[in-house]
Amino acid sequence: MSINAGFHKLKISEVRRETPDAVSIRFEIPEHLKQAFVFKAGQHLTLRADLDGEDVRRNYSVCVAPSENEMRIAIKQMAPGRFSVWANANLREGNEIEVLPPMGRFVLPEGTEEAGYYVGLAGGSGITPVISILKTVLDTQPAARFVLLYGNRSTASAMFLEELAGLKNRYMERLEVYHFLEDEAEEIELFNGRLDREKCDAVFDSLIDVKSANAFFICGPGPMMDAAEAALLARGVPAEKILIERFTSSALSAEQLAAREALQQKAAGTELVVTLDGRRSRIAFDPTKGSILDCMQAAGMPAPYACKGGVCTTCRAKILEGQVTMTKNYGLTEQEVADGYVLTCQSVPASEHVVLSYDE
Ligand code: FES
Repeated sequence: MSINAGFHKLKISEVRRETPDAVSIRFEIPEHLKQAFVFKAGQHLTLRADLDGEDVRRNYSVCVAPSENEMRIAIKQMAPGRFSVWANANLREGNEIEVLPPMGRFVLPEGTEEAGYYVGLAGGSGITPVISILKTVLDTQPAARFVLLYGNRSTASAMFLEELAGLKNRYMERLEVYHFLEDEAEEIELFNGRLDREKCDAVFDSLIDVKSANAFFICGPGPMMDAAEAALLARGVPAEKILIERFTSSALSAEQLAAREALQQKAAGTELVVTLDGRRSRIAFDPTKGSILDCMQAAGMPAPYACKGGVCTTCRAKILEGQVTMTKNYGLTEQEVADGYVLTCQSVPASEHVVLSYDE
């Protein structure tokens, strides 16, 4: 069983208001959980709370660098944002909340050079994982440079402004920060408006040496991430240099829904042999439940999950025998898929017998 398995109750040691609609929350990590909560810059935590009898889970990025020796996430209130609204209004120092250990692949690529050149594109609360990576790069790679393109509605809604200004002073030669504001007019037209495709094109043509960048870290609203990715791919940037952190996925089209339903019906009754936390169980796939994960939950098995949208990879398992079809996959890499990993919240059996394990 992985050291990262399972939720842990963590005590909140500080709630700090970052903007009128966002707080950052610091957790106390007890000695026996220190190892489980070691994280890489850019990773996130999954929080769980019972809201009106419903088990609600959300992922929030760690907003500090590992070298800062604290565990802190930021939660921006989003509309309708059930969890984020509740958290902003209710969480206080001394409260306990259930948290999964750090996860996520939105991290610095292995083997990055001393003199790396990195670009972050952050929109709104998308700054949280990006600032963690930015601080880590500047702190651990003495000759590296980082350019941050940061989009917000207004200055008042922008998180970590003071911290970014402090970093800018400290790393004058190595950090560039450009703000893009939707509701405030700057003198230079380039910095007005949202980071849409046109803006990304203009920015990549004028501010960024796109070809030299080691990696691009993109996190923010869906349209911004799509625009930035498309603009980079159009400039010939290899896909492996473009890292994108999504917390939600778009709804399926009517056609996709119909295709998924047909798969589910076809798979009715398929035997699933599942290993979870060292225990092997057999259940039958029930199309009325939805995915393999949904069937496990209906059978009372505590399979891990957070987003149920094919994004966070919390529900990852390895197929040992048989085949499944995934509806969406924003989280697994091509290599993981080639190695047999699937997102069980998106998986439907595609063979008569499926053996899978959450422990691999
Ligand atoms: S629960 Fe997030 S990808 Fe399945």
